[in-house]
Amino acid sequence: MTITTLDTPSAKPLLDWYDRHHRDLPWRVSPGMAARGVRADPYRVWLSEVMLQQTTVQAVKPYFEKFLQRWPEVTDLAAAENDEVMAAWAGLGYYARARNLKKCAEAVAKEHRGMFPDTEEGLKSLPGIGDYTAAAVAAIAFNRQAAVMDGNVERVISRLYAIEAPLPGAKPAMKEKVALMTPSGRPGDFAQAMMDLGATICTPKRPACSLCPFRDACQALKSSDPEFFPVKAAKKEKPVRRGAAFVAVTGEGEILLRRRAESGLLGGMTEVPTSAWTARLDGETSVTAAPFDAAWQASGTITHVFTHFELRLSIWRAAISGPFDTNDGWWEPVTNLEAQALPTVMKKAIAAAIPLAFKTSRA
Ligand code: ADE
Repeated sequence: MTITTLDTPSAKPLLDWYDRHHRDLPWRVSPGMAARGVRADPYRVWLSEVMLQQTTVQAVKPYFEKFLQRWPEVTDLAAAENDEVMAAWAGLGYYARARNLKKCAEAVAKEHRGMFPDTEEGLKSLPGIGDYTAAAVAAIAFNRQAAVMDGNVERVISRLYAIEAPLPGAKPAMKEKVALMTPSGRPGDFAQAMMDLGATICTPKRPACSLCPFRDACQALKSSDPEFFPVKAAKKEKPVRRGAAFVAVTGEGEILLRRRAESGLLGGMTEVPTSAWTARLDGETSVTAAPFDAAWQASGTITHVFTHFELRLSIWRAAISGPFDTNDGWWEPVTNLEAQALPTVMKKAIAAAIPLAFKTSRA
């Protein structure tokens, strides 16, 4: 596909709109400041961008504040205990991000004297920083002319140009368009303006086209059905895996927990004992998979959707008279569960057996 600059709409209406309607977010400096040399702190930008991958702004805000309070500088995060970081991340999902976050902080602290590299290439050399994060941090924190593409930006661009080729195949062509539109003076503001536009005006359903700064240029609007874009390749249905989870509680109110293997799904996170999770219909969902004999009682089923499969866990609960030695676990007071590195699926499993386990139940 050849793209001439004649095809490229001006970024100015978008930047003018952003100056007036940007969202106030804790990791941002106000628009226009970047052009005057006031930059957002690279640590805050990097932390927010890692958290925002696959997670909404609303969900990220309290985690972002908590991380900054505990670890105000990248060197503080580098020096933190792994387990503490995993526990603080619990609930945000995609836990490989948290492991890489810690590794990246260590690399910045040890190999870069606590300062993030200020180019896309330099950023990409750090653990866990891929194309998206490198471009976002380079543009937002260092005002580099990087093309930043996330789901919101894809939607805006696909509508602006009425791109009929389906995602994800159309991504490189979309990125080219974003690169051509990105203004050299305010690349960071442009990236964030595209994200804000996608989040607030150019929404997946019922976009507010009459309020859009691109309403004159938008090809999808001319086509009269902007919602038709972006076109997406048909999704495959997720396979279902099944298993059982065992919630053992002592008379003193302690629950048996253990730590998952370091590598693999939810690596290094905390769990209640579970069976293997298999795709077989006759998989281990029954009490025969329990870690020890007890009066196990069925406590329902929970479902959790991972990237590549849906998990259905049968939940079993047993009241135990007191704690006993286990090879690979420990007994934790139920009142202290919030401080554990429990992923959301495990919070759901525990909440099914002990409804009041999480008072602020985000599970
Ligand atoms: N989503 C991902 N990064 C973002 C940012 N910097 N601002 C708003 N939404 C975002």
